[in-house]
Amino acid sequence: MKILVTGGNGMLAQDLIPVLKERHDVIPLTKKDLDITSRDSVYTVLKNSKPDVVVNCAAYTQVDKAEEERAQAFLVNGIGVQNLAIACADAKIPLCHISTDYVFDGENDKPYTPFDNTNPINTYGKSKLAGEKYIQWILDKFYIIRTSWLYSIRGNNFVLTILRLSKEKPVIRIINDQIGAPTSTMQLSEGIRKLIESSAYGIYHLTDETDGGISWFDFAKEIVRVSGLKTEVIPVTTDEFPRPAKRPKYSVLDLEITRLTLGFKPVHWKVALGNSLYHLIKS
Ligand SMILES: NC(=O)c1ccc[n+]([C@@H]2O[C@H](COP(=O)([O-])OP(=O)(O)OC[C@H]3O[C@@H](n4cnc5c(N)ncnc54)[C@H](OP(=O)(O)O)[C@@H]3O)[C@@H](O)[C@H]2O)c1
Repeated sequence: MKILVTGGNGMLAQDLIPVLKERHDVIPLTKKDLDITSRDSVYTVLKNSKPDVVVNCAAYTQVDKAEEERAQAFLVNGIGVQNLAIACADAKIPLCHISTDYVFDGENDKPYTPFDNTNPINTYGKSKLAGEKYIQWILDKFYIIRTSWLYSIRGNNFVLTILRLSKEKPVIRIINDQIGAPTSTMQLSEGIRKLIESSAYGIYHLTDETDGGISWFDFAKEIVRVSGLKTEVIPVTTDEFPRPAKRPKYSVLDLEITRLTLGFKPVHWKVALGNSLYHLIKS
């Protein structure tokens, strides 16, 4: 397959592109190569490159900043995705799009299935939901993959932040009352490849396996433990750390449909984290 990947410099795309390249012809495009908010550019690039599928890794991802940059968040995550969806519909090719657990409000007491009602509580989540809706309105053939708490050995993410803070401070305070699931970009990349090879269109949830969810505190403690660092990790509440954007207090995603449809067995989060930290040390 010829696969066009947008947002090529992003954290996920950097790991996804080599995974796709193992079996496919990949056209990786950075924001400089293709700004998805330009409808003309999206049309021209798709017309000239004639991909079989587009994977959209381009996004506005600054959750707190989105509260003051609402227009920019909606432009990229809403209109940008609309542009891709229209161009894919015209080219009669599927669009694979990455979305987020933040489309949910966090009021559930069990993992969210792809059929559960969305109700985002911050601007980032609302803008991502706008993108999801455009895709569903415009396209017959699409893959929407909701994921959460993404991390990689590069980019801006929780694992690297905890490693940096642990080297600077003897004690770190981490939120213990938001429950979710971390996701290694390597695991997610394998899932994306499997999905676009399957032609099983629809909405999917894909994270690492957590058996019901963990807190940021649990995640931080494991990062520190596996790295052999001596930093003390202290649990705190969300109220003690007010942020511009509200976060869902529970956003674990149910993986059953992904498992059944793709035969994909998500890796346990501790195993995925251990692998990532091993690669980080080796790099
Ligand atoms: N990170 C997480 O914890 C998380 C959790 C759930 C879901 N997701 C979703 O997963 C996907 C990948 O996230 P990520 O963490 O890899 O994000 P990321 O590192 O911020 O990458 C996003 C990429 O999109 C590019 N971009 C921004 N505006 C663009 C535009 N108008 N046209 C083309 N490219 C544009 C960015 O370029 P610049 O940097 O130059 O602006 C960046 O390279 C996103 O859809 C995100 O919403 C992420």
